[in-house]
Amino acid sequence: MLENKIALVTGASRGIGRAIAVSLGEAGAYVIVNYAGSEDKAQETLALIREKGGDGEIFKCDIADENECSEMCKAVLDKHGKVDILVNNAGITRDKLVMAMSDKDFMDVINTNLLGAFHMIRNLSRNFLKLKGGRIINIASVSGVLGNAGQANYSSSKAGIIGLTKSVAREFAGKSVCVNAVAPGFIQTDMTDAMPQSVKDAAIETIPMKKMGQPEDIAATVKFLASEDAKYITGQVICVDGGMAI
Ligand code: NAI
Repeated sequence: MLENKIALVTGASRGIGRAIAVSLGEAGAYVIVNYAGSEDKAQETLALIREKGGDGEIFKCDIADENECSEMCKAVLDKHGKVDILVNNAGITRDKLVMAMSDKDFMDVINTNLLGAFHMIRNLSRNFLKLKGGRIINIASVSGVLGNAGQANYSSSKAGIIGLTKSVAREFAGKSVCVNAVAPGFIQTDMTDAMPQSVKDAAIETIPMKKMGQPEDIAATVKFLASEDAKYITGQVICVDGGMAI
């Protein structure tokens, strides 16, 4: 289904990014597994892709750093000639109530979650406009749709991702490049494992389906948006959240 496509997934060493990388690789794309720090974990993702019959490579880059980002994009374009599918997945949290949130807490999250995605899109923009028919899929969050107490920084970054998605969708639509966002709800990963059990239990109570989602639930939606079947969908935010944003 995605044969001869080159996909780049940021923050793909674990969690949702890993599930997306494995799913795109299984569907036939050659996957660039971006990671910030943990080479071992990125290698594990690549091994999982190969177990499923796919292929790819790992690439270290802190997406918040414009120089590193442009070097990665240039190296990938020099080697492969194109990137068909960009998944901006890398993200961090620094949750605090607003009265205790420092500028650094706020800007660290904005710099990775929003500026990082912007860096990737800008560095690959010529590639996408030449390509005609590419896909950019940004991982947002229901926090960016609904807001969330304790996440003023994170919600702002994810609401920003939604604005970025809609603006770039309008800029690239004439070249048949589809730009969409997926907004996960409460998904079982290291990010949510770090929360106290009482907070997790309270969060699950707010989900109409009364359970957490799995990284594979997000990966399935990303795979659909990356496919030919989604060629007339652009500028949308698809909530994959067990009903949280109803
Ligand atoms: P995670 O913490 O397990 O994985 C995040 C990945 O991003 C890690 O591999 C990390 O190394 C990477 N990363 C962080 N900063 C980076 C940087 N500067 N450069 C490159 N890579 C970097 O988190 P999870 O849960 O897998 O989240 C993935 C995405 O989904 C994030 O954007 C997150 O905000 C979003 N999300 C997650 C939800 C959840 O419930 N787990 C809910 C809504 C959205």
